[in-house]
Amino acid sequence: MEKKRGKKVTIIGAGNVGATVAYSLAMQGVCHEIVLRDRNPDISMGKALDMSQAANAARMHTIVKVAHEAKDIANSDVVVITAGSPRKPGMSRDDLLMVNAEITKEVIQDVKKYAPDSIIIMVSNPLDVMTYVALKESGFPKERVVGMAGILDSARMAHFIYEKIGYGAGQIRASVMGGHGDTMVPLPKFSTVAGVPLSDILSKEEIDEIVERTKHGGAEIVGYLKTGSAYYAPAKSTAIMVEAILKDTKQIHPCAVYLDGHYGYTDVVSGVPVALGANGVEKLFEMTLTDEQKELFDKSVKSVKEMIDVLKSNNFFDK
Ligand code: NAI
Ligand code: 2OP
Repeated sequence: MEKKRGKKVTIIGAGNVGATVAYSLAMQGVCHEIVLRDRNPDISMGKALDMSQAANAARMHTIVKVAHEAKDIANSDVVVITAGSPRKPGMSRDDLLMVNAEITKEVIQDVKKYAPDSIIIMVSNPLDVMTYVALKESGFPKERVVGMAGILDSARMAHFIYEKIGYGAGQIRASVMGGHGDTMVPLPKFSTVAGVPLSDILSKEEIDEIVERTKHGGAEIVGYLKTGSAYYAPAKSTAIMVEAILKDTKQIHPCAVYLDGHYGYTDVVSGVPVALGANGVEKLFEMTLTDEQKELFDKSVKSVKEMIDVLKSNNFFDK
């Protein structure tokens, strides 16, 4: 086995999101080695070479490679999983759920075998359920399996706030919790522009519009791209998580994690604020929610539980 040189990140699924995560990490020199693993090794090889050359142009030390065999992911500090299949004509949401759950199950076997000490960042959709699958199938401690969605959804909300007010770009702190789907819970009461509460800047109607647009932020982009979904903001959001873990920053971000009695829920994954560091999820924060926020969070958690139940009723976890 090749000698490990510094921090290693494996990305399983080198499609739009996976490759862009790799590019973002390489351009910032966040790690020494990035390994791409995909069903399609030739395309991954082309992307890896291209990115290694870009890193050289940027005077960065990061090398991007391809894992031709599963064992090439060994010694990874972080494994990002973006492997997935898009919804095809005639497929129901449940069909897609089963397809992506099977893909996640398959790739997690390699992670379990060859990178047993890594921290897994799940990206594939439906995100909260796939994070649950990754946790159950890996058998990793819950602190080492975390899903990316909250940073993306908050960034989308921040951008929509900017579009409404026309100033403060980069100074907007938007907050979103719950699952990554139509039932996500944007939290305008916890959102500020340079410390000024949103409600002091915008009307209730304007805030409601932002909340609705945030919930459908992914679909809005699909509507323009037509053949795929967003990847720049999803990839940057994932890279932020990788960096927090590798650099042990303990920064607090909304992430999808296993709830074990937190907020009153067990055996489910949902988005809540957590501190990320070298051990993965280092602390989970339980915010005091209003009754209305609790109700919305409950709806969101239940929608994830329903999908987990579809997997359970298909004996997915028993096979
Ligand atoms: P994509 O289709 O461009 O890439 C998916 C890649 O996975 C393809 O290169 C494919 O060859 C690969 N793949 C499929 N099965 C595999 C397997 N068994 N082993 C290795 N590789 C495999 O899709 P894109 O746009 O990169 O999205 C990836 C996933 O991330 C999707 O499920 C998408 O819905 C999800 N997503 C989640 C977001 C979030 O906020 N959590 C945001 C954006 C996308
Ligand atoms: C997004 O929100 C599709 O989950 C993906 O863009």
